[in-house]
Amino acid sequence: MHIDIVTVVPGLLEGPFSHSILKRAEEKGLASVKVHNLRDYATGKQKQVDDYAFGGGAGMVMMIEPIARCLEHLQQQRTYDEIIYMTPDGKTFDQQMANELSLKGNLLILCGHYKGVDERVREKFITREISIGDFVLSGGELAAAVVADAVIRLIPGVLNDETSALTDSFQDGLLAPPVYTRPAEYEGMKVPEVLLSGHQANIETWRFEASVRRTKERRPDLLEGK
Ligand code: ADE
Repeated sequence: MHIDIVTVVPGLLEGPFSHSILKRAEEKGLASVKVHNLRDYATGKQKQVDDYAFGGGAGMVMMIEPIARCLEHLQQQRTYDEIIYMTPDGKTFDQQMANELSLKGNLLILCGHYKGVDERVREKFITREISIGDFVLSGGELAAAVVADAVIRLIPGVLNDETSALTDSFQDGLLAPPVYTRPAEYEGMKVPEVLLSGHQANIETWRFEASVRRTKERRPDLLEGK
């Protein structure tokens, strides 16, 4: 998988992709992420990428020309399965969408800033609009990093056995069960006996029941219709 991310603040995305699982995915050749500075596609001395909104009102709007120049340049090098725009009015990101995107080859993610992009960018280029929740970030960059992380870790071979995605919360529509490690007793707090028993079938039953209990308590909405 290859992900191109277009932003006016590339510095915001330097950290997430140079660490841990995402770095390992790149090293193993399973995923690559490239960040592109939209300002490199702006013209004029000011390298302007935004302008006042027609009709007035507070906040700047990202102009279509630099974005079109950038996206068309990238499209000459790759065919994209999806051109995604990160925006609070997009479809809310969830594990199912992460699973779906993890099966794609080339993704392009456009990060909005200020008041967002000129609507014509959305009409002309965007195939999918994603929000990471009902709150407003100062830009789409951190949201893009969230999506890229959730997607890349699902690519076969990125995670090893110990970090396998199959037992994650949401993967089976349930929250994950509680987990414990050594010591078996800490200040009188004991690890559930069954987990120390070595009886794998009983352990699996306990984990499933604990998952259901936790989901009922914390996210009963996940169980509706089941
Ligand atoms: N940009 C600003 N807020 C956002 C959000 N909640 N999700 C995705 N992109 C955003």
